[in-house]
This record gives sequence, structure tokens and C-alpha cells, in this order.
Amino acid sequence: MRTYVVTGGAGFIGSNYIHYMFKKYGDEIRIINVDKLTYAGNLENLKDVENRENYTFVRADICDAEAINRIFSENDVDRVVHFAAESHVDRSIKDPGVFVKTNVLGTLTMLNAAKLAWENPDGSYKEGKKFLHVSTDEVYGSLSNPEDYFYETTPYDPHSPYSASKASSDFMVKAFMDTYKFPANITNCSNNYGPYQFPEKLIPLMINNALHGRDLPIYGDGKNIRDWLYVEDHCKGIDMVQEKGRLFETYNIGGHNERENIQIVKTIIQTLREELADDDPRKQHVTEDLIKYVADRKGHDRRYAIAPDKIRAEVGWYPETTFEVGIKKTIRWYFDHQEWMEHVTSGNYQKYYEEMYADK
Ligand code: NAD
Ligand code: TYD
Repeated sequence: MRTYVVTGGAGFIGSNYIHYMFKKYGDEIRIINVDKLTYAGNLENLKDVENRENYTFVRADICDAEAINRIFSENDVDRVVHFAAESHVDRSIKDPGVFVKTNVLGTLTMLNAAKLAWENPDGSYKEGKKFLHVSTDEVYGSLSNPEDYFYETTPYDPHSPYSASKASSDFMVKAFMDTYKFPANITNCSNNYGPYQFPEKLIPLMINNALHGRDLPIYGDGKNIRDWLYVEDHCKGIDMVQEKGRLFETYNIGGHNERENIQIVKTIIQTLREELADDDPRKQHVTEDLIKYVADRKGHDRRYAIAPDKIRAEVGWYPETTFEVGIKKTIRWYFDHQEWMEHVTSGNYQKYYEEMYADK
């Protein structure tokens, strides 16, 4: 039975990945979820898998070398899928330090532990061991020419403390591959959306605010462009890269689904209105009147757009979920999981929200 260490499995993409993997492989695999449970980690995301015999949760910080080494020495780990990171650009602008610590030093700790466990005395590696580092398209910077796309060969040009820390972690993985022939891959994915996303990110924030009749804060002119991918398609891409991709390669993952932020928000309002019953009192306030243009994000990247040609050609991956279908599924999920939203928006999150938007 193949054993996976999944870091950051209690977060948005990590928890979707764990669901995806159990759906696909059932009892053929074992997953050890290693997560510190920061504000973004939520074990509620994994309620329906927590009693599986082939699932274990370990609360640990990826910067804690002793705890991470122990996981490798107590288990014969075959695969690492490394999601754990600080992931929100606005937070990185307020407090870059923790981004360097978790994203850069934490990644180094994971690499060191896997190398120690997997390397043979002659410098080769035990059969079949693989590490996948999950990264972002934001490392490539911002596109100004509408005809340009991010390819795997595009030079790195990060602007925010978040993307700088992810770029740095990518380079550390590359250094391990180049220097030690460490068996790894890197994936750089565009913006994800779907179930279990923490409502500090654009799509769940707008859904939640609209349902509560709160302002929908659009940064700047609302014309910044992101390339949106349904989270399950990302999870499938990660698994396919690990199974079919060439070792030591980077693969970009994205769906050619570029939208301006304002378009996204208007689609959310329209879809919510279609979903709400006519006698639902919320239908009165879910309108475009909620849209409020606010001060722009500092250093706000204008456009991200992935060219997924390599992953399609080499691995056979393509996005299956159109935005029209994905956004409906997502909105329905948040409708059906209002208790989940209430839990994550209480307490600490509330304080964060007030602090972040007080001066907007
Ligand atoms: P998230 O913020 O929802 O989840 C991050 C998880 O990591 C949380 O469970 C948190 O508790 C955990 N974590 C944070 N610091 C930790 C530490 N020091 N030790 C152990 N666990 C820790 O993030 P996400 O959106 O699920 O993103 C996951 C990964 O995918 C990140 O590496 C991110 O850079 C990358 N990515 C995200 C997107 C996106 O659109 N969300 C797109 C491309 C790539
Ligand atoms: P976000 O979801 O934070 O992802 P990222 O910055 O990693 O791309 O933001 C997506 C886009 O939406 C980005 O251009 C910033 C914008 N945005 C708003 O306009 N208002 C908001 O309240 C948030 C959170 C984001």
C-alpha cells in the first residue's frame, strides 16, 4: 500500500485533494495529513474521512524538523504532496515574516526530511519515492500584453511577499533536484475556487458577503484578471503529474479561463439570484448595489494567465469543469454548508476581517 504524506491537508486545496484521492484510490493508499492548523486549517473539512483506517492526522509545524523527521522515520513514506503554506496575498503585505518562515524554511525542512529518509548511501534514491511541490502562477509576475501567457520557461518575477516566498521555495526544490537529483516535481497552478475555500479569498468572500447583504469590496478598478480553475481539476492534475509526469519537471496547471474580478462578482450575484427562491428574503439585497469599489491592493498584479500546453501534451491533463458549471457547484456547496461558513467566520477570522478592511 502506497503511503502519502500530505502537508496542509486541512486547508482548501489540501482537503479537496484528500477527498479526491480517497474517491479515486479508496483503500489502496494511506494518507498522513500533516498540518499545523493555522487560521486556514480546518479539520471540519475532513469530517467524512477522519474515521478511515487508512487516514491519519498529525498536528505539526512543517518548520519543526524533529516532528517532521519523526513522521518519516515511523512510516515508510512513498509520496509527499506539499501544500502547506501561508497563501493569502493581503496577509503577506501586512506581515511578510511568517510567509518566509513557513513557505521557505518549512519547504526546506520537508525537503531535508524526505531526502534523509529516501537517499541511499551511494546518493541514489529508494525506488518509487516522489515529492510534489504545489506552487502558484503568481511566481511569474504580472502580464501586460493580452497575448502573453505563463509558460514553464517564463522567467520568475514575483511582486508580493507571498509570491516572492513561493518563488523562493520553488527555487529550493529546483536546487534539490539539480544538486542532489532529489526525485521531485513542481506544479504552478492558477487561482482555484470550489468547496472549503477560506472566505478571505475573492469568490467565497463575495458569496458570503452577498448572502449577508454586506458590501462587495472590489479592489481598484475591478479589471485585474485571474485565470480560474475548479479545485477538483487541480487535484486531478497533481495526481496525474505525480503518476505520469517526468521527474524533475515543472508543469503549469490552468484552464484558459480568464476573467476580470468585476465579471466574477457580477456572475456570483446573478447565480445567487437564480439559486435563491423568490420568497427568500435575501433575494431583496443580493443585487449589484452591494458592489463597492475600494482602495487598490498594494502592488496589485494585473493579469495572470497560464498556458497549460505541456501538461496536456505530456500528461494528458485538461480541465473538465467549465467556469459556468464550477461556479454553480461552488455556490450550491456554500448554500448547503452554511454552518461551515458560520464556524470559519466567527472568532479570529472576524477580528482579521475588521482589521483588514477597516481602512478600505
Ligand atoms: P490554505 O491557506 O487554504 O491552506 C494552507 C494549509 O496549510 C492550512 O491547512 C494551514 O493550517 C496549513 N499550514 C500553514 N502553515 C503551516 C505550517 N507552518 N505547518 C503545517 N501546516 C501549515 O491554502 P490553499 O489555498 O489550500 O493552498 C495550498 C497550496 O496551494 C499553497 O502552497 C498555495 O501556495 C498553493 N496554491 C494555491 C492556489 C489557490 O488559488 N488557492 C493556487 C495555486 C497554488
Ligand atoms: P485573491 O482571491 O486574494 O487571490 P490572489 O490575490 O492570490 O489572486 O484575489 C483574487 C483577485 O480579487 C485579486 O485581483 C484581488 C481581488 N480581490 C478584490 O477585488 N476584493 C477582495 O476583497 C479580495 C479578497 C480580492
